[in-house]
Amino acid sequence: MGGPALVLRNLNKAITRPDRDPFIIFRDINLSVSDGEFVSIVGPSGCGKTTLLRVINGLMPHSGGEILIDGRSAHEVDNELVMGFVFQGASLLPWRTSLKNVVLGLEGRNNNAKEAERTAQKFLDLVGLSGFETHYPHELSGGMQQRVNLARALAVDPRILLMDEPFAALDAQTRNFMQLELLRIWRETKKTVIFVTHMIAEAILLSDRVIVFSHRPGSIRSEVNVPLPRPRTMEMKSDPRFLELEHVLWKQIEEEVNASGGFSQM
Ligand SMILES: Nc1ncnc2c1ncn2[C@@H]1O[C@H](COP(=O)(O)OP(=O)(O)OP(=O)(O)O)[C@@H](O)[C@H]1O
Ligand SMILES: [Mg+2]
Repeated sequence: MGGPALVLRNLNKAITRPDRDPFIIFRDINLSVSDGEFVSIVGPSGCGKTTLLRVINGLMPHSGGEILIDGRSAHEVDNELVMGFVFQGASLLPWRTSLKNVVLGLEGRNNNAKEAERTAQKFLDLVGLSGFETHYPHELSGGMQQRVNLARALAVDPRILLMDEPFAALDAQTRNFMQLELLRIWRETKKTVIFVTHMIAEAILLSDRVIVFSHRPGSIRSEVNVPLPRPRTMEMKSDPRFLELEHVLWKQIEEEVNASGGFSQM
């Protein structure tokens, strides 16, 4: 495909209300994400990470700057159609089975019903949920529910996969397992991923590059390349390069949290 999959140029987001001063959520975001790259964003709570993903996805308008998808303005591309979004927290419809939840993303995209179900089945298989097609969300574990969310986001064959703390609600063991599963699925699908997390070790383990956001209004404070080979393994978490990077990133986030008023903001 050549050039970057996604370019953000001087991207700004402010909320304006007649009775208040404009509230700047993030500003001057400049970022270029290569085709197939895995980029994580970390930063203090409230610095605008979720808002940035929503703006990239087209769920919210931006207030200034530019979004380019494969070199074309997001206005021309209709970003909602080229993005897959795995949300922060639960987003499955409780009255729909796993299969029907995955089909949901395909509805309204000119698929016939049978074809949509075949596609949904393929992605349930990919995320390791064969045999759970007719289960409802309450019959699935938290990790399985997030697999369904991932299958739903992937089923539309998105150009870019946006993931907002997808594993935050999982216990530590399931989370570790899901990280490795995500890496496997990423290898198989070769998607470009933007992944938001609070967990620095998760960002390092998964990513080619980690972006650190400043406290609100969010801006890019720094970015670091992760110098670890692929495929990644859990053992790499004790690699000196991993630990050094974790330390560096932690110091930066700590400074941002302190600058924003302390740990109650984290
Ligand atoms: N629609 C909105 N209207 C007004 N303010 C908003 C809106 N959406 C987000 N905000 C504000 O923007 C700021 C950033 O919110 P956002 O959810 O993007 O942060 P975040 O970095 O994802 O935080 P967390 O790590 O806690 O998920 C917050 O102060 C929030 O109150
Ligand atoms: Mg958020």
